[in-house]
Amino acid sequence: MMKQSYSIVIAGGGSTFTPGIVLMLLDNLNDFPIRQLKLYDNDEERQNKIAGACEIFIKEKAPHIQFLATTDPKEAFSDVDFVMAHIRVGKYAMRELDEKIPLKYGVVGQETCGPGGLAYGMRSIGGVIELIDFMEMYSPDAWMLNYSNPAAIVAEATRRLRPNSKVLNICDMPIGIEDRMAQILGLSSRKEMTVRYYGLNHFGWWTSIRDKDGNDLMPAIQKHVREFGYVPKAEHEQTEASWSATFEKARDVYQLDPKTLPNTYLQYYFYPDDMVKKSNPEYTRANEVMDGREKFIFGECEKVVKAQSSADSQITIDDHASYIVDLARALAFNTGERMLLIVENNGTVENFDPTAMVEVPCLVGNNGPEPITVGKIPQFQKGLMEQQVSVEKLVVEAWIEKSYQKLWQAIILSKTVPNARTAKLILDDLIEVNRDYWPTLS
Ligand code: NAD
Ligand code: G6P
Ligand code: MN
Repeated sequence: MMKQSYSIVIAGGGSTFTPGIVLMLLDNLNDFPIRQLKLYDNDEERQNKIAGACEIFIKEKAPHIQFLATTDPKEAFSDVDFVMAHIRVGKYAMRELDEKIPLKYGVVGQETCGPGGLAYGMRSIGGVIELIDFMEMYSPDAWMLNYSNPAAIVAEATRRLRPNSKVLNICDMPIGIEDRMAQILGLSSRKEMTVRYYGLNHFGWWTSIRDKDGNDLMPAIQKHVREFGYVPKAEHEQTEASWSATFEKARDVYQLDPKTLPNTYLQYYFYPDDMVKKSNPEYTRANEVMDGREKFIFGECEKVVKAQSSADSQITIDDHASYIVDLARALAFNTGERMLLIVENNGTVENFDPTAMVEVPCLVGNNGPEPITVGKIPQFQKGLMEQQVSVEKLVVEAWIEKSYQKLWQAIILSKTVPNARTAKLILDDLIEVNRDYWPTLS
């Protein structure tokens, strides 16, 4: 798809992550030229607040780029090469319920893990499939790069429902952790490391981390994690308390398999009671995000629009934005960059369900991703992954078949849920509040 310059639509234009991605794109125009940038959302008022600031960023840095914010799918998805998607169906109001309802019953309340993650999955599937259909109707050659969560369930849904579509599902957690590993080692960037990793989304392990000369960096990182988790001696940036606790908890998560290094999300499956104990059922992560990131980003955007200048803007770009831009570049320019993506297993993990959506390193070129073989995985990980992938597959089956029974089975299969009676009570509450978003189950 090598072109002189590209056209992109960001779907979920009103997302708190949109300004960061726009700034990242504007910062990389030499490597990745853009002629058109559009925002698309189904909430016009929310998107307009972000769009106002993005328009000014573009005017200041690259006035040649055509900019448009729209809620009209045809306008949004016509004449684009890439769809960068990060929608949150039901927004933070529903995330809050996903977290608070399970907690009411003493069960993990989390955005992507456990019953809350399943509830979010049941909302996201339809929204993401709709975006794919818009893309294929108006720009059939485009690629969709999808951050929309819960990525594991969304990826399984895209595999089942749109198997031939050009969609790549991605997650920023491994790169966020790799950034910390690089800090722990005193490296200037995570890109100095070559990693081997396997698992499901938010459910995986590093098995090898080497520098560019091939030296093994695992022992030094493991030594640090054994004592401090993923908390570097000197933090580069301020970290919110709840995230600091997660990075510290990696110390306990690591103990289950000291030969590897774990994704932090495993804390919800290995230590569900600890997670519940430290949660405040009246004020969860959704509340923190609404009071923190959402207020900050919308406040900054308002400031930029008022001043008609980005001069005082505190919005920064980060790994989250750089990852999706790297991926677009790899597809556009056939860079062959090695990136972790969520792809159909198909033998990549030899002794695991070939139809599972796994997160593994892939070489990315203009024909898409080529997964790097993992080989056989140990019984411990295989057992955990078989249970978790069944949760994800059952949610998608429940959505397709509108099956109450399958969703109940999915919830009880989650390692975060100890009791089928409790699972049913949680499910019934979730059904009640998700009436506008879920298919009617029977
Ligand atoms: P946000 O609520 O600020 O933004 C989401 C936007 O999507 C909102 O403006 C909303 O109006 C819009 N939206 C909802 N349903 C839509 C639909 N059907 N069509 C079009 N637009 C729709 O949320 P956020 O915190 O900025 O996160 C955005 C998404 O990115 C979430 O799904 C989040 O979980 C995900 N995310 C994923 C990763 C990852 O590792 N994969 C990392 C960070 C964020
Ligand atoms: C990480 C994960 C994302 C998740 C996010 C939640 O980045 O990879 O999948 O959405 O954390 O962060 P938040 O700040 O919204 O709680
Ligand atoms: Mn993620």
